[in-house]
Formats: sequence, C-alpha cells, structure tokens
Amino acid sequence: MTSSAVPFASPPGTALIVTGGAGFIGSCVVRRWLEITDDPIVCVDRLSYAGNLGSLSQVAGLPRFVFEQADICDAEAMTRIFRQYQPRAVVHLAAETHVDRSIHAPGEFIRSNLTGTYTLLEMARAYWQELPLERCERFRFHHVSTDEVYGSLGKEGYFTESTPYAPNSPYSASKAGSDHLVRTWHHTFGLPVVVTNCSNNYGPYQFPEKLIPLTILNALAGLPIPVYGSGENIRDWLYVEDHVDALRLVLERGRTGETYNIGGRSEQSNISVVRQICAILDQLRPQQTPHARLIRFVDDRPGHDQRYAIDCSKIEQDLGWRPQESFDSGLRKTVQWYLDNGDWVNAVSSGEHRNWVNQNYAHRLSA
Ligand code: NAD
Ligand code: DAU
Repeated sequence: MTSSAVPFASPPGTALIVTGGAGFIGSCVVRRWLEITDDPIVCVDRLSYAGNLGSLSQVAGLPRFVFEQADICDAEAMTRIFRQYQPRAVVHLAAETHVDRSIHAPGEFIRSNLTGTYTLLEMARAYWQELPLERCERFRFHHVSTDEVYGSLGKEGYFTESTPYAPNSPYSASKAGSDHLVRTWHHTFGLPVVVTNCSNNYGPYQFPEKLIPLTILNALAGLPIPVYGSGENIRDWLYVEDHVDALRLVLERGRTGETYNIGGRSEQSNISVVRQICAILDQLRPQQTPHARLIRFVDDRPGHDQRYAIDCSKIEQDLGWRPQESFDSGLRKTVQWYLDNGDWVNAVSSGEHRNWVNQNYAHRLSA
C-alpha cells in the first residue's frame, strides 16, 4: 500500500528511505527532518502493533513525504521501492524492539531484525552497485542500533565503540547480529555504511509497553505500576529528539564503516524514574493520595541487564553533538505530551497493546 495525498516527486538521488518510520523514533526522524531539512522522505513500515500512522498525521499531506506499507523481509517490494524512489540514503530503524516480547516470542525478532536487515542490505547493495559513480560515492546505509548489544555493566565503566559484543536477550542478540551483517556488507562488499548504538530513548509517541509511557498511563488510570525485581537496574536515558539530531549528524558527516555510540549521560535507576514520574503527576494531576502508592515490585525480567551507560565522547568530539534536554526537562515534556494527546493514547491503549499486557503480565501484578 502506498499513501500520499499529493504525487510524490523527487529528483533521483535526493530522497531518504526511512524504515520503521511509523514507530517511536522513526516517526520523530520523519517529522523532524521534514520540518528542518529539504529532504524528500519515503517511510517504509509494515505497520506492526508498534507502527502507527497516527504518529505521522502532521506530515501526511506534504508533497515531500510518501508512506509505503511494506515488510523489509519482502525482497520484491524492497527492490521496487529502491528502483522507484532512487534514494541517496537508507536510515534503517525497522525492528522488533521490546525485550519482554522477545523473551515470550523470539521468532519475529529473528525474522524482522536479522532476515529483514539482510534483505534490505542485499537490495541496497544491488541498487548501489548500479549507481553512477558520484551517487555511488555519496550513498549511505545508516543502521540504527542499540547499546544493549554490549551486554550488562557492573557499578563501574561505560560502553565504548570498542566494547566487545555480549548480548543477553533475544532482542539484543538479534540487533547484535544485524550490526554484524551491516559491518560485513561494508567490509566484504564495500557498501558505505554507518552504524549508531544508542541508549534508552523516551519522549512523545512511544508505545506504552516501555517503562516511561507505561508508568505514565498506568498512574493516570489508577492501575498498578510494575517495577521489575528490586528496581535498582540502571538505564542511560536520552530524549528522542536529541537522538534524532545525532542520527542526522552521523548520516551527513559520519565516516563510512564507523560506529558512533549515542547516550544521554543520564543514568537513572528504574525506581527513581518511576518515582519522578509519579511526582510530576502529583503536581499536574493531583489526587488525594500520591501516585507512588500504585508502585508494585514484581517478578524480575529473566536475564535482566543490570546497568547500561554510554561513553559518547566519540560523537561529541568528532561531530560536535551534545544533547539539549536534561532528564528532568525531557521527562516533564513527555508527561505533558501524554496528558495532552488523549486521542493518540486511546487509539493505542484500546488495541492489541492492552490485550498483550493483560495476557502476559497479569500474574506479575499479583506478585
Ligand atoms: P518501535 O517498536 O516504536 O518501532 C519499530 C517500527 O518498525 C514500527 O513502526 C514497526 O511497524 C516497524 N517494523 C517492525 N518490523 C518491520 C518489518 N519487518 N518491516 C517493516 N517495518 C517493520 O521502535 P523504536 O523504539 O522506534 O526503535 C527504532 C529503532 O531504534 C530500532 O531498530 C531499535 O532497535 C533502535 N533503538 C531503539 C531505542 C529505544 O530506546 N527505543 C534505543 C536504541 C536503539
Ligand atoms: O537501551 C536501549 C534499549 O532500550 C532499546 O534498544 C530497546 O528497544 C528499548 O525497548 C529499551 O530497552 P529496555 O529493556 O531498557 O526498555 P524497557 O522500557 O522495556 O525497560 C526499561 C527498564 O525498566 C528495564 O530495566 C526493565 C524495567 N521495566 C520495564 C517495564 C516495561 C520495569 O521495571 N517495569 C516495566 O513495566
């Protein structure tokens, strides 16, 4: 399915293909880059439970935007899309992304994250090899990945670009495998790739299976807020727009064949994140008792990584990137966004998400 309100026209070698552009980070890429650049953008997304055209409604009518509902594992569709739109780059975000789901049902993670990335790489290579020299040299395949490929840290230390891979969940293993495929397509075939590995993102339009939106929406609904294990696991949080600005810098100025780590220098324990959200809601939506009364410590996630922390000095020094948002300011903006966007929230909360959470986590909440 192709959808565009007006005919999409872009000269060959100008468009960006953004895979996963109807997801949380991908839709921010699409909205932000259409706003601040002249790039034509082709959004390729299969619209899984996490893909949402409601996250793209503000760009739907723009002539520089087109949406293609397609699966990245579909070689025929990918071939057609490369031929039709003649992109100057692919920004590859399409993936299954939720660690808990990967524990319950790993198969889709292997299919989309490994077979999908392989298919996209092969179709990109076939397209790139036929390009005239100048466009061939400018072409980029930007693979968007995660810090989870590096495994788990103890109390000390940071992930750098040379930290050995040690993924612990089916999700992170599938992302690690996709990173290796991308690196190999550069090393063996010369495909001009860049890879980024980022820490935990948060912000508007995030699907409410992830910690921050789940906490906000459960607290608002008066439902239990599940905290896995002791709540002392640590994540390094980055506001999604800061990530998207970093992706832009790497796409335009990153060296091919290189990896750049992206992080917020903002380590927080899970219980601290949850308590901060409850405190913000106590101010914005006061109730007779504090929202923190809803916190429940539940069974831990199997294989739960203890701590993630990114050393992002390479992207800071080489490309001059700095996050703009502090965790406090970003979290307040995020909570306010969920309060202000009831239609988006109701559309996702009434669907498959609630069913899945109920089926798989009901037992945890009674722990
Ligand atoms: P998301 O789950 O919100 O969105 C993923 C999107 O990919 C959805 O729109 C989905 O429909 C699409 N998709 C999935 N499988 C597909 C397939 N086979 N073909 C076409 N489309 C498909 O994910 P997100 O949080 O926006 O993450 C985007 C990317 O960034 C992922 O590659 C993820 O690994 C990476 N990443 C995420 C974070 C984070 O904190 N969210 C951090 C670092 C890296
Ligand atoms: O680090 C980057 C990764 O961050 C991305 O690659 C993933 O796609 C993204 O989902 C995210 O993974 P996490 O597993 O860290 O995110 P999640 O929001 O699921 O969990 C954050 C932490 O909170 C984690 O330690 C588990 C915990 N948690 C999560 C949920 C959903 C809870 O305690 N309770 C919950 O209900």
